Amino acid sequence: MAEAPRHFLFLVTSTREPGHLGNTEWLARQAAAALPAGTAQTWLQLAPLQPQLPPFVDQRHTAGQYPMPEGALKALLDATLAATDIVLVSPVYWFSIPAPLKAYLDHWSAWLRVPGLSFKETMAQKTLRLVATSGDRAKAQPMIDSVKLCAEFFPMAWGGALWGKGGPPDAVQADAGARDQAATFLIA
Ligand SMILES: Cc1cc2nc3c(=O)[nH]c(=O)nc-3n(C[C@H](O)[C@H](O)[C@H](O)COP(=O)(O)O)c2cc1C
Repeated sequence: MAEAPRHFLFLVTSTREPGHLGNTEWLARQAAAALPAGTAQTWLQLAPLQPQLPPFVDQRHTAGQYPMPEGALKALLDATLAATDIVLVSPVYWFSIPAPLKAYLDHWSAWLRVPGLSFKETMAQKTLRLVATSGDRAKAQPMIDSVKLCAEFFPMAWGGALWGKGGPPDAVQADAGARDQAATFLIA
């Protein structure tokens, strides 16, 4: 049977002001440019969506389940489900992930408990990858490990992490190693 066409969801989680392209998105766009022509791509900025999303509430041991989300959160769920490949485009913040990404991942816990959604089984058919930038590769490791463990939970296939040396806007463009790796990261 022919494989379903691939659809990449790029979730950009930098909190830079709108219109300011961050290092991490720049690096992710280098990687995306190497995808075969016509590969479906959806790019979503998580930070501007935050005000429209309800806060995550842990109902695991009270209601025990969640209703199907509505509005912007439902759109985010639909984008997640529609992707064969999810790429978290995330700078390192305090050796960890930015708050908008954390909020999104917390909602995964709710989506696991929406009756009839089969979120876990559906996610287990997808590949998760991480594109990250920060000042120091070694100190990015806890964040990379944390994202990889999220993939293993389902388990989703782990497509690895692409890291570049960031800082002020455009800094990552000087990281030749990251640019080289970007050329094959999504197609290896
Ligand atoms: C709130 C905050 C926390 C940060 N924490 C770290 C850190 O722990 N380690 C590090 O090397 N860089 C840290 N940085 C720097 C960013 O990771 C770096 O500038 C990154 O390239 C920004 O990505 P962007 O340009 O895509 O927004 C932090 C930046 C911010 C704004």
